[in-house]
Amino acid sequence: MSRRILKSFLDMNILILGSGGREHTFAWKLAQSDRCKSLFVAPGNSGTEAIATNLNVGVTDFEAIKIAVLEHHIDLVVVGPEDPLVQGIHDFFLQDNELKSVAVIGPQKAAAELEGSKEFAKEFMMRHNIPTAAYESFTKDNVEDGYKFLDTLKPPYVLKADGLAAGKGVLILNDLQEAKDELKSMLVDAKFGDASTKVVIEEFLDGIELSCFVLTDGKDYKILPTAKDYKRIGEGDTGLNTGGMGAVSPVPFATKEFLDKIENSVVKPTVEGLKKDNLPYVGFIFIGLIKVGDDPKVIEYNVRMGDPETEVVLPRLKTDLVEVFEAMANQSLSAINIEIDERAATTIMLVSGGYPEAYEKGKEITGIENITDSIVFHAGAKAQEDGKIVTSGGRVMAITSYGNTYPEAIKKSYQSIENLHFDKMNYRKDIGFDL
Ligand code: AMP
Ligand code: GLY
Repeated sequence: MSRRILKSFLDMNILILGSGGREHTFAWKLAQSDRCKSLFVAPGNSGTEAIATNLNVGVTDFEAIKIAVLEHHIDLVVVGPEDPLVQGIHDFFLQDNELKSVAVIGPQKAAAELEGSKEFAKEFMMRHNIPTAAYESFTKDNVEDGYKFLDTLKPPYVLKADGLAAGKGVLILNDLQEAKDELKSMLVDAKFGDASTKVVIEEFLDGIELSCFVLTDGKDYKILPTAKDYKRIGEGDTGLNTGGMGAVSPVPFATKEFLDKIENSVVKPTVEGLKKDNLPYVGFIFIGLIKVGDDPKVIEYNVRMGDPETEVVLPRLKTDLVEVFEAMANQSLSAINIEIDERAATTIMLVSGGYPEAYEKGKEITGIENITDSIVFHAGAKAQEDGKIVTSGGRVMAITSYGNTYPEAIKKSYQSIENLHFDKMNYRKDIGFDL
């Protein structure tokens, strides 16, 4: 594993890759540090533009990223989304003489397979005794075996496209015939393109979900606050899946005892497993968990932070994030003290009408300046030349608030939203309803 000693006595030039609410939150937090000399975001949004310099560079355009890094003397790159990691951006930096001394927060390609391939993740969990749902995986060559395996399971049936499918690759079906038809459509008719060349079929786990966020330098780890995300578009967790409609942190049912179980049965074996398998990892591990009875089981790994979970987790981090990232890159994370704000944080995502299906863009967003009790994290929003801020995506803005309790924080976010407007604005009115 390569070890790079950053010039820790100097202030840093930092580049964040991405353009969502997660990246605005990273920028907001990093900009608070005295150690951050200049901050760039590629490509960024209207929120990042107000506190950093946006660069018109795509997150997977490695050559253009290289030019930007050299031009702006970047010391540290924080990778927001999974795509560049799965495509090997960290390896690209290590293999380039001009870039290899630049620190990258995000794992190398081999470990990014934990998110890039469901089968790889399942095999990793099996190898390291990490609790997860029983499974088998299939390709079009043994689709008949897949049908037989489905016959042995009880409904609902869980089918997962092996590769990245923009959060749409998991199907949960109640009907056996429908499950078989979908399996065929994924494997034989390439429903999710190359992502469904392989399909993992797994046991359905019945329980309540939460996410655990871990920082690692490849040697040690630190656990960040838990969060719970609301993925469905409709109230009462109904309707289509989205990127996430809101989040709360901490998760009220994650007691000390339960968190200890997560640490011992999931986090430790995961970090140890990365070492044993010789998978270098400097970055975030986002572990999707489900509480079955009293025990945690892993649903998935992501090799980045969650969105909108970042919008509630980072506001609760009191420690200087530049120092945390520097320690990760220097493999001295064990020396860092992670301080957490005791208050709860919640976020409500404002989305474009129609999302997660077709929606219109370019709607003017008004009233942001009237929000004083919450933090407005921009997502699919951009600033026009005339200074107006307009919608540019499905998820438009995340409204984060603190509270002594999470209901208090949620109430504040809803009150703040009253000030905001754009045509066909939609949001869930029930974030936290189940807790
Ligand atoms: P994933 O993309 O793997 O996070 O799956 C998307 C969603 O599907 C999860 O957030 C869960 O709600 C659900 N899910 C995935 N796997 C299972 C499982 N084995 N049992 C129950 N629900 C699951
Ligand atoms: N909010 C879920 C995710 O970022 O994958």
